[in-house]
Amino acid sequence: MNEANTEVEIDWGNLGFDYMDTHASFSALYANGAWGDGTLTEDPYLAIHEGSTSVHYAQQCFEGLKAYGSQDGRLLLFRPEKNWERMADTCERLMIPPVPRELFFEGITKCIQRNREFAPPYGSGASLYIRPFVVGIGRNLGLRPAPEFLFRVFVSPVGPYFKGGKQSPISLAVVDYDRSATRGTGHIKAGANYAGALLASATAREQGADEALFLDSQQNAYIDEAGSSNILIVTEDGLLVPKSPAILPSITKFAAMEIARSELGLKIDERPVHLRDEVASFIEVAAAGTAATLVPVGAIHVDGQKHTFYNGGTQAGPITEQLYEILAGIQRGDVEDKFGWIQPVDLD
Ligand code: PLP
Ligand code: COI
Repeated sequence: MNEANTEVEIDWGNLGFDYMDTHASFSALYANGAWGDGTLTEDPYLAIHEGSTSVHYAQQCFEGLKAYGSQDGRLLLFRPEKNWERMADTCERLMIPPVPRELFFEGITKCIQRNREFAPPYGSGASLYIRPFVVGIGRNLGLRPAPEFLFRVFVSPVGPYFKGGKQSPISLAVVDYDRSATRGTGHIKAGANYAGALLASATAREQGADEALFLDSQQNAYIDEAGSSNILIVTEDGLLVPKSPAILPSITKFAAMEIARSELGLKIDERPVHLRDEVASFIEVAAAGTAATLVPVGAIHVDGQKHTFYNGGTQAGPITEQLYEILAGIQRGDVEDKFGWIQPVDLD
C-alpha cells in the first residue's frame, strides 16, 4: 500500500489489466439489518470469519466500471447508474441486501477522490477501473444468507484487457463447459459464474484462443457470451445481437447497439443466434465489455474448425471500428454525449 500523499509514478502506456496498490479502498458494513456508514481504509485485506457464506457458498457479487480522463482534466464515469441497478438485481438474486444508491456512489466517489493520482490522464490509452463488490461475512455454517455483509470499492489503473492491445482481433473457442443454466445466475454478476468459467478459459487458451465462447446450456447451439464480454455480430442485414436469458446484460453492448442504431443507421436484430448454422453469415464479430471495451473477434473455433471474420480475422472491420471510435470518444469526452451516458466524478 502506498503511503498517503506519496507521489505515484505510473507508466500509463504499459499497463495491463492488473491490481495495483493504491492509497485506500472504501468499506461499509451491513449488520443488524442495516447498512452502516462507509469509510476509507488503507488496509486492502479483509479479516472475515472462516464461516463466511462468501467463502463457502459464493454469496458474493461484484461490479466493474471505468473512469476516463478527459482532455479538460475531468474524470468521466460511463453509465454508473446502470452498474448500481445491476448490482441491486444481483443482490436480490443472491439474497444479499442491496447496496443503497447513495452508498454505492459515495463509495465510488470517495475511493476515486482519495486515489486521484492513479487516474490515467487523457490520451494515455489507460483508464481507472472501479471494482465495487459485496461479500457475505460473519459466523455461519449452514446454507443460509450471511448475517452480515461488507461492501467494498477499490480502484486500479488499467490498460487493455487482452494482451494484443486495443484493437487487435482476439479469438474465441467453444469448449466442453457451460457457463450458466437458463434459470441460473448467468444474468447477474456473481463471482461463482467466473469460478465456473476459469477452466473453460484455460482450455480455450490451451487451444490457442484468447477466451472461451459459451453456447446455451440446453442445446449447446445458441451463442451466449464470452468469459468477460457479450458478443455483437455484423451481417449483411445490420447488427445481430445474441439474445439469451443466461448472459450478463452488458452495459457496453447496449451502448454500442444504441450507437449502431442512431449514429450508423444499422438495423438491429436481437435474437437467439445459432452459431454453427449462422457463422458463415458473420462479417464482423466483436466482444463488448467494460474491461474488454469493444474488441474485434477475428476468429471463432468450434468443433475443431476455425471460422474467421473480417479480412481473414486480421483486423477490425469498419463497423466495429466506427462503433469503437464513437463509444470510446463519448467515454473520453471527445464525442458529444447525446445519450446522457457520462457522469463526471466530483473531484473536490
Ligand atoms: N459478460 C460478462 C461475463 C462480463 O463479465 C462482463 C463484464 O462486466 C460483460 C459481459 C460486459 O458487461 P459490461 O459491458 O456491463 O461491463
Ligand atoms: C468487467 O468487464 O468489468 C468485468 O467484470 C470482467 C472481468 C472478467 C474483468
